[in-house]
Amino acid sequence: MGKRVLVTGGTGYIGSHTAVELIKAGYEVVILDNLFNSKIEVLERIGKIANVVPFYKVDLMDAEAVDKVFEKGKFDTVIHFAGLKAVGESVEKPLSYYENNIGGTVNLLKAMKKHGCNEIIFSSSATVYGDPGKPEYVETMRTGQDISSPYGKTKYMIEEILKDATVANPKLSVVTLRYFNPIGAHPSGLLGEDPNGIPNNLMPIVMKVARKEIPKLAIYGDDYPTPDGTCRRDYIHVVDLSKGHLAAMQALKPGFNVYNLGSGKPNSVLEIVSAFEKASGEKLPRKVVKRRPGDLAEFWANPGKAEKELGWKTELTVDDAMEDTIRYLKNEE
Ligand code: NAD
Ligand code: UFG
Repeated sequence: MGKRVLVTGGTGYIGSHTAVELIKAGYEVVILDNLFNSKIEVLERIGKIANVVPFYKVDLMDAEAVDKVFEKGKFDTVIHFAGLKAVGESVEKPLSYYENNIGGTVNLLKAMKKHGCNEIIFSSSATVYGDPGKPEYVETMRTGQDISSPYGKTKYMIEEILKDATVANPKLSVVTLRYFNPIGAHPSGLLGEDPNGIPNNLMPIVMKVARKEIPKLAIYGDDYPTPDGTCRRDYIHVVDLSKGHLAAMQALKPGFNVYNLGSGKPNSVLEIVSAFEKASGEKLPRKVVKRRPGDLAEFWANPGKAEKELGWKTELTVDDAMEDTIRYLKNEE
């Protein structure tokens, strides 16, 4: 039997896909989530694709409950996805974001320390680079400056907390993964991005327009200095991203380690819309509106370090992601 892994946020979008890959690879998985932004049905779906796993409906802000999970669990490793992630909302409710994301992580790290669990993989974001002035982000670039939202700042601050924790405990192995823009769904059509409430990110909004729950996609500006005038991002299929966590599991070593997880190739908003239309066979109603404050014209990952040290690189394309998204949408109808 492989290691025993606690997946926080495991019923969420990226956590559920990663749980599937971990179970398939022979790891013993336990999921913790407060179901704030995910649904309990996801557990059944994970069961159908891979295997049924134990689940704790626990809020990471409840230190006592987290401690109890560890008391029962004896985990070798934690993969920490749980957190609030809506960039716009974090500007309106910064304290909730600091409380949940940072407070929750501190409780988790305390329970890990108390119960002798010394391995953690953390979901960070390209946002920690702020606005470095160059579009290709490399792990050696400085972080923490010009971060445009409290959400992004929580990611930076948690990275710093993790670094400090490795100094205090030389046995602690941390892998921080800086995700670029996750898209797509599980090829089974059973798992995908299904946030509670109004989404912020491009693909969940595209999906709502396709379902006619939103009349039109608002494209935030077409006057950027990019080939077609719309912003460019590094979109990564969620299954590739999940596999990045398995690669990271195998590379855990004491200290603070960080990797970009991206494809290395940017796509514009208009290219994403075209790819979705090609996969669905239908036109997506859209209109160009003014720029969204805080958006950078373009950025993408330099994924060289993950390829060299983890032996990981993306294998799936934006077109694969769109086909899987359509399959998920049809399955949910
Ligand atoms: P998600 O919202 O689908 O999943 C996060 C899960 O965490 C949800 O199921 C939610 O209910 C749970 N959660 C939140 N606060 C909790 C708490 N206090 N206690 C217990 N559970 C809690 O989001 P996702 O897209 O799967 O993202 C996973 C992680 O990756 C997050 O940390 C996110 O910030 C990070 N990330 C996401 C993206 C992206 O674009 N999706 C990009 C970069 C980084
Ligand atoms: N976009 C639109 N219309 C929409 C939504 C988005 O045109 O309705 C555009 C945005 O302007 C941007 C692109 O689509 O150019 C992608 O936007 P997302 O909101 O999906 O993603 P971001 O690149 O803004 O955000 C991502 C992650 C965050 C992270 C941020 C900064 O989702 O976690 O990158 O690194 F904080």
